[in-house]
Amino acid sequence: MSTERLHELPADVLALIETRTGPVLKHETAVSGLNSEIAARIHTPETTVFVKGLREGHRRVWTQAREADVNPHVRGIAPALLWRIQAAGWDVLGFEDIPGRHADYAPGSPDLPLVADVMSRLSTTQAPDITLRTMSDRMKAHTDTPELFAGDTLCHTDWFPTNVLITGRIAVLVDWAWASRGAAWIDPALWVVWLIDSGHTPAQAEQWAARIPAWNTAPAESIDAFARATASVWEEIADGQTEPWVDGMLHAARTWSAHR
Ligand SMILES: Nc1ncnc2c1ncn2[C@@H]1O[C@H](COP(=O)(O)OP(=O)(O)OP(=O)(O)O)[C@@H](O)[C@H]1O
Ligand SMILES: [Mg+2]
Repeated sequence: MSTERLHELPADVLALIETRTGPVLKHETAVSGLNSEIAARIHTPETTVFVKGLREGHRRVWTQAREADVNPHVRGIAPALLWRIQAAGWDVLGFEDIPGRHADYAPGSPDLPLVADVMSRLSTTQAPDITLRTMSDRMKAHTDTPELFAGDTLCHTDWFPTNVLITGRIAVLVDWAWASRGAAWIDPALWVVWLIDSGHTPAQAEQWAARIPAWNTAPAESIDAFARATASVWEEIADGQTEPWVDGMLHAARTWSAHR
């Protein structure tokens, strides 16, 4: 379920932000992304900052803490968190602004090697000692063998292309709300479904996944089980809703599972 994005920054939030940034010249609301009440670029005479904010009573305000806790462990992979404000009923994160565009996962896209590179770096990042869900727990309703997905790697898990910003010759990952602890091959496995959705055959998609070293040492039966479980996850997401992108992902996940 999505949250209504505020198009104008409420005056009280702007005042809070200005305690960190100094006077704001102008701001623009981000067009994509549906979870944050506030997602905006803030311009001051000196700098530009990207802010994400939720009210303290919001049912997903825990995602602010997750992003803040993960951030020091993903420097060079994610935009740096500059500050966090918890005041006046708001929880607001200020990030380094990434002047980029969303990744394109289509066959032949020049972004694909950049995504594989950032994913490779993440796949060798140990999960930090912070509150994180485990992939075994997240998938347990969708498989008889959740233990196959266990591991000590930090996984991003939300490879929606709007969460991957291309800037210059690198990809930067935003939106760490669903960061989890799991096997190092989980992120490439999740990317496979997006690649199929974007026009790759399952074999072509897995060739991209194989750019991530952890994929190549993953037990085949674990990936088989993950493909089946992922199709089940998308069946649950698609149940009772008609968003075309969800149908696309369900189809892609089923196509991959059948291929395995
Ligand atoms: N540090 C940043 N610099 C520049 N743009 C950013 C930054 N972080 C996020 N964005 C832009 O804002 C959009 C929304 O951000 P993000 O995905 O983190 O928020 P969200 O509201 O939690 O979204 P979602 O609906 O995907 O959960 C991103 O798709 C991206 O275009
Ligand atoms: Mg997002």
